[in-house]
Amino acid sequence: MNAQTPVSPYVRPAIVDDAEGIAKVHVRGWQEAYAGLLAKEVLDRQSVARRMREWTEYLKEPPGHRWTFVAIDPAQGIVGFAGAHRARPAPYGPTFKITVLYILQSHLRRGLGRQLIHALARALAEAGPGAVALWSLEANRPARAFYAAIGGRLTAILAERQGDSRVTLAGYRWRSAADLAGKTAPQQSAT
Ligand SMILES: CC(C)(COP(=O)(O)OP(=O)(O)OC[C@H]1O[C@@H](n2cnc3c(N)ncnc32)[C@H](O)[C@@H]1OP(=O)(O)O)[C@@H](O)C(=O)NCCC(=O)NCCS
Repeated sequence: MNAQTPVSPYVRPAIVDDAEGIAKVHVRGWQEAYAGLLAKEVLDRQSVARRMREWTEYLKEPPGHRWTFVAIDPAQGIVGFAGAHRARPAPYGPTFKITVLYILQSHLRRGLGRQLIHALARALAEAGPGAVALWSLEANRPARAFYAAIGGRLTAILAERQGDSRVTLAGYRWRSAADLAGKTAPQQSAT
């Protein structure tokens, strides 16, 4: 490889030193993805310093019940991240919950979402059996198209109060982490 060859973005597990980069993408990701979907005051209240404190604590927690992966553009640093944790056991068995997934607008539709979820799903599958679930804003059409493209089953539409606003959420589910890993594997379609 010569010095001119661009290096592609790649995905790896997050470390504590990633807290600042994750916090920046978290805040910008919210502001880009939720403009027009959430109240402007909610978006304006997002703070990199607060997110960084939260992520530093979170990433220090012992492994085994939470997983975070970052997408790195070698020219720019962290441009996306995804995370999941073990959810409370449901009556029908253990579940993992994907809690965060954000990629900067500048890096959308390059396969990074699929790569992040694949890495996460493989880590969850190694941790044990369990279905995988997540919630998205019902109005977040791009995210919902992504979840459908990677084989997510729409299981619920739920209205709830968050602070002063009411939001409608769409729930997606995969029967197992191995199923999700298979559906996001390189060169695989969701069918
Ligand atoms: C949802 C998100 C993570 C998808 O990541 P991405 O890297 O852009 O997605 P990928 O490139 O891996 O896309 C995989 C497939 O999903 C589908 N897809 C992804 N984005 C889509 C869109 N905007 N519209 C329609 N289909 C889409 C396509 O089938 C795509 O395959 P293709 O590009 O070969 O057609 C990204 O849009 C994002 O970070 N959005 C902002 C934050 C957000 O809304 N997070 C979700 C919170 S619940």
